[in-house]
Amino acid sequence: MSKKITKQQFLALNQKGVKGMQRNSKLLSEAKNILVKADRYRWLHQNSWMGEPLLNLPQDMFALQEIIYKTKPDYIIETGVAWGGSLLFSASMLELMGGKKVIGIDIYIPKNLRSRLAKNARLFSRIKLINGSSTDCDTIKQVKKIIGKSKKVMVILDSFHTHDHVLEELSSYAPFVGKGFYLICGDTIVESIPAQGHRPRSWGPGNNPATALREFLKTNKRLSVDRDIDAKLLFTCHPGGYLNAKS
Ligand SMILES: C[S@@+](CC[C@H](N)C(=O)[O-])C[C@H]1O[C@@H](n2cnc3c(N)ncnc32)[C@H](O)[C@@H]1O
Repeated sequence: MSKKITKQQFLALNQKGVKGMQRNSKLLSEAKNILVKADRYRWLHQNSWMGEPLLNLPQDMFALQEIIYKTKPDYIIETGVAWGGSLLFSASMLELMGGKKVIGIDIYIPKNLRSRLAKNARLFSRIKLINGSSTDCDTIKQVKKIIGKSKKVMVILDSFHTHDHVLEELSSYAPFVGKGFYLICGDTIVESIPAQGHRPRSWGPGNNPATALREFLKTNKRLSVDRDIDAKLLFTCHPGGYLNAKS
């Protein structure tokens, strides 16, 4: 820690750096190119939290930590659980911050996923798993039952990345997010990743979370993109995907 400057001055210097970075279009496009090229080597799949894999960049996980610290949600809903590392991450944050539950939704929740997560009994006690499609009425009903009337809710959409599915998720889950809280529309980066021969997917450029979000934001004026988060991350899988509720 420098003794010569105050924290305020330190943060002001950082702001100046972020602005400079945003003006450096060459740096921004190099960063995006690295992300796109490294995706071929499963770069985004190589991280874990408390021993369980999570399919996200450390930069984005750090952004989540900052958002959770700043907003202190009672509930964190995540659609798309995969290996569960990201649920353990959110549960760890709630454990530290004193929130209530993490709700993980996936169409595929095998027994061994539950038993692996349950090894960390303290964190698992904060996790509610819902086995079903994120857009299914019964799933939404179960979510409502868990969160009750709370509006201190953060949502992370990271399941099936087609335009139609994400658009439906946005309509279903945005109303849970109260004023000042965040909805993260995951994997908007897909718009920049060329169609993948090595890993066929139902989504790709023109049909993905970014296109769904663009359509959603035409009519939904309650959520707006937090550009400050984008501006400083440089490497992110969710460009333009960090949304803050204004009312
Ligand atoms: C990208 S992974 C989730 C990664 C996880 N959020 C993380 O950060 O580690 C996508 C997950 O979405 C699940 N999925 C696919 N279609 C779904 C649907 N309709 N509803 C809920 N989950 C779905 C898949 O089974 C898969 O586990």
